[in-house]
Amino acid sequence: MNSLRRFVLAAALAVLSATGCERSADRDNKQTFTIGMSQCNLGEPWRVQMNADIRKAAEAHPELVVIYKDAQNDTLRQRSHIEEYINAGVDLIIVSPKEAAPLTGPIAQAMRAGIPVIVLDRRVLGDDYTCFIGADNKRIGQAAGQWLAEQLGGKGKVVELKGLMTSTPGQDRHSGFRKGIEDSEIEVVFEADMKWLQALARKEMESALARFEQIDAVYAHNDPGAYGAWLAAQAAGREKGMLFVGIDALSGEGMQYVRQGILSATFEYPTGGAIAIETALKILHKQDVPKEITLGSRLFTKENLDNGGESIAAPDA
Ligand code: FRU
Repeated sequence: MNSLRRFVLAAALAVLSATGCERSADRDNKQTFTIGMSQCNLGEPWRVQMNADIRKAAEAHPELVVIYKDAQNDTLRQRSHIEEYINAGVDLIIVSPKEAAPLTGPIAQAMRAGIPVIVLDRRVLGDDYTCFIGADNKRIGQAAGQWLAEQLGGKGKVVELKGLMTSTPGQDRHSGFRKGIEDSEIEVVFEADMKWLQALARKEMESALARFEQIDAVYAHNDPGAYGAWLAAQAAGREKGMLFVGIDALSGEGMQYVRQGILSATFEYPTGGAIAIETALKILHKQDVPKEITLGSRLFTKENLDNGGESIAAPDA
């Protein structure tokens, strides 16, 4: 951020806090809009990418000032961030919530205060928000299950390392996967919640390896998890012949793992950052936006990586 932008931002926040919540009548006439972005954590590359995508898209619109807050994976802190944005009277909130239930109330409170809210990637309960943007996690989980079943010839023993099960992508990637393997003889011999974290995935995989002599594949709900599992298997000298499948497909992360032969497949999970800014602009200019925008996904394997992967779900946007 250059110093002029930083100054404008500080001044905007100071004015907003001094005058309390600014109401929609004022909003209609103004030249600059302040967006409060609440990120649940920046510990994982995918979330750093989301913020970068938002920043890049916003930079093309000098009338937008985006403030970022990182809750550092702490739900209570993220709730406070939403409340701070409400008190500061920002014009719009973009939030990527850590967990569904605890963030539902503060988001509804923002809506009651007349502040539109775009929910990105992880959902909240109910539909008290302006627009939800994210990929179809059930569809991705199901595609992962079908792909694994096909690779394993319809049978085998699989470990499932789940994302945080109080977050909707974790729930949907799980139920979708189970649907994807339901017509096969694949057996999930071990499952654990690794909370999206590589280190925890590695630890859980160590337990799985200690308990089961035969593990044919690992399905992890994100690429850091799949990589953590691979590290555990490698340390035990058992990674060869095991398939590792993840989700996210960042060019510098999952796609590299596929290129290196560490992961057999990864499914793209777009951040939605750029579309969030496009949608925010429409909302701020009083244009209609859909309640839900579903992003597409692609399957990447070593074979199709250089050809842009294979589409598994058609995007809305
Ligand atoms: C990052 C992340 C991604 C995952 C997404 C799901 O925090 O765990 O790896 O795809 O969140 O919400």
